[in-house]
Amino acid sequence: MTESPIYELEAVDVEYAVPSTSERVTGLHDVTLTIPSSGLTVLAGPSGSGKSTLLRVLSLFQPPTRGTVKFRGAVVSSSARRRRALRREAIGLVFQTPLDNLVPHLSVSDNLHAAAQSTRHRCDPDALLDRLGLGGTGASRVAALSGGQQQRLAFACTLARRTPVVLADEPTSQLDDGSAGHVLDAIEVLRAEGVAVVVASHDERLIERGSRVIRIRSGRVVAEHSGREERR
Ligand SMILES: Nc1ncnc2c1ncn2[C@@H]1O[C@H](COP(=O)(O)OP(=O)(O)OP(=O)(O)O)[C@@H](O)[C@H]1O
Ligand SMILES: [Mg+2]
Repeated sequence: MTESPIYELEAVDVEYAVPSTSERVTGLHDVTLTIPSSGLTVLAGPSGSGKSTLLRVLSLFQPPTRGTVKFRGAVVSSSARRRRALRREAIGLVFQTPLDNLVPHLSVSDNLHAAAQSTRHRCDPDALLDRLGLGGTGASRVAALSGGQQQRLAFACTLARRTPVVLADEPTSQLDDGSAGHVLDAIEVLRAEGVAVVVASHDERLIERGSRVIRIRSGRVVAEHSGREERR
């Protein structure tokens, strides 16, 4: 049985206005694709190609300028309130800048509790921190962590929300091999749990694990191929 895709995008354009001019910058152009409701989809492409823009569309933050986005078979509402409700319930987004996920003046543990509460879950901060190689940091302020530690904490906060969709924007960009290994392992667990994981990355360690890789260039999808699951 073929499972229904969780996302269906048709002819999606995103244009950005340039402040104080009449110019428009293309973020995405004529993007048509589907994302399966489980497995790891990797968005790969050079800097400025539109990876973060596509993740913002998938996270329902960014309504397209033109085209249609369907989530779980239904066209996504133009109402910001409804999109926000759907996002809160079903979609986790790890931003490219980890502090966008975090509350700097709170402790590491309180950030995890706050994230879990947003979807009415309970979490065990110590277990999540151990999984991401952050054991012993629970009482620290976020602002006192290194960039790589903040990046792993942002990922842990998204895990704490236990959403059926996890989107992550370059989640290993600031990590050495050892620290990246924790994030890669956490992604494998999500995938085994049947979560739809979509990651933007240049990182070959992630690209080679993708069940699907979507290559983007200048806002367009230029290639799509199946990854290791289908090659087995
Ligand atoms: N808020 C914005 N306002 C104006 N232009 C934007 C905005 N965000 C993105 N863009 C433009 O859209 C295009 C795609 O940007 P995007 O951030 O999606 O690329 P990216 O692939 O994520 O790049 P990187 O690998 O550097 O993170 C770029 O030309 C960029 O300048
Ligand atoms: Mg980006």
